[in-house]
Amino acid sequence: MASSSKLALIAIAMLFAFSLKHCQASLTPNYYDYTCPQAIPIIRSAIRIAIAKERRMAASLIRLHFHDCFVQGCDGSVLLKDTPWFTGEQTALQNNNSIRGMEVIDAAKWAVEAVCPKIVSCADIVALAAKDSSEYVNGPTWTVKLGRRDSTTANKDLAAADLPFGGDNLDVLIAKFARKELNAKEMVALSGAHTIGQAQCVTFRGRIYNETNIDPGFALHRRRNCPPSNNAEITNLAPLDPVTPNSLDNKYYKNLMQRRGLLHSDQVLFNGGETDGMVASYSRDPSSFYADFATAMVKMGDIDPLTGSSGQIRKICSAIN
Ligand code: HEM
Ligand SMILES: *[C@@H]1O[C@H](CO)[C@@H](O)[C@H](O)[C@H]1NC(C)=O
Ligand SMILES: *[C@@H]1O[C@H](CO)[C@@H](O)[C@H](O)[C@H]1NC(C)=O
Repeated sequence: MASSSKLALIAIAMLFAFSLKHCQASLTPNYYDYTCPQAIPIIRSAIRIAIAKERRMAASLIRLHFHDCFVQGCDGSVLLKDTPWFTGEQTALQNNNSIRGMEVIDAAKWAVEAVCPKIVSCADIVALAAKDSSEYVNGPTWTVKLGRRDSTTANKDLAAADLPFGGDNLDVLIAKFARKELNAKEMVALSGAHTIGQAQCVTFRGRIYNETNIDPGFALHRRRNCPPSNNAEITNLAPLDPVTPNSLDNKYYKNLMQRRGLLHSDQVLFNGGETDGMVASYSRDPSSFYADFATAMVKMGDIDPLTGSSGQIRKICSAIN
């Protein structure tokens, strides 16, 4: 064979391998159209039942997707209980006694398994649950890409390293999101999720007693239910957005501009740094917040999925098969 046609063959083979790899790696909204068309409505109704019972669940499920995606990618790893082979992510400091909603994912999974056994991944259910939750609490909606598979392992140390803390400074937050290929603006948009849900006293105590970039009336008010040192009360809850705690809107950014961010990590987004302008612009323009939040959620959902023959479809979300 002439060397030029050999070269052409090699080029074609490489192109084929490349496109195969990229085919496998990309998620698609239509993934279950033929294998389990009922999956999306079944999951949606399970999620809606749970939020109707407890509205905070919408917040907990959006956060669960975030904490899944930031550790090993969106692979359902956050749902795994400890095993003799690995310590799971649920006892990492950022998750311990804090992440919620796993039983809601279990219920949705159970309902889907009854119709299409071992077709729909737990990671995809978590991604759909986040979107369904946003819709339910007046937030934006988006098209969820599907086809993620579930991990066969989880990693507590990775969770501890990759998930942000409420005490992190702006440069640390920007770096942690950059590691997941999310830029500062996307980080600010995603933080808008703190317009719903609750935080425990232990996560904001340092701020309300010791920080100066805080509205004094707001600090005083928060101190009433969060004493400086009583350990019996570290789990007392406060709303991340006291104005509209049950509505996914842009009030969060308005609060920040009044120095009423609950967490240190909230207020650093508007404290004289490079993200001040983004906060100001989302506070003025809810539609740009909704659009950017939705786009960033899709991008977050794209972090390192397991596809093709990697991973597995779990039968039970809390354990590997
Ligand atoms: C920017 C870095 C972030 C930090 C440092 C952070 C930290 C925290 C902390 C400390 C809590 C309170 C947890 C507790 O007290 O149990 C919390 C709650 C929450 N976070 Fe974040 N978070 C960040 C970004 C995000 C993102 C990107 C999302 C989702 C897109 C999100 C969604 C939520 C929600 C909805 C809650 C309330 C959960 C509930 O009520 O169950 N957070 N976050
Ligand atoms: C997680 O919380 C439990 C209490 O529910 C506590 O006993 C344990 O030490 C905590 N683990 C870590 C790693 O903080
Ligand atoms: C406030 O700061 C002081 C001095 O650093 C520290 O001893 C104290 O524990 C802090 N209080 C809270 C509630 O974090």
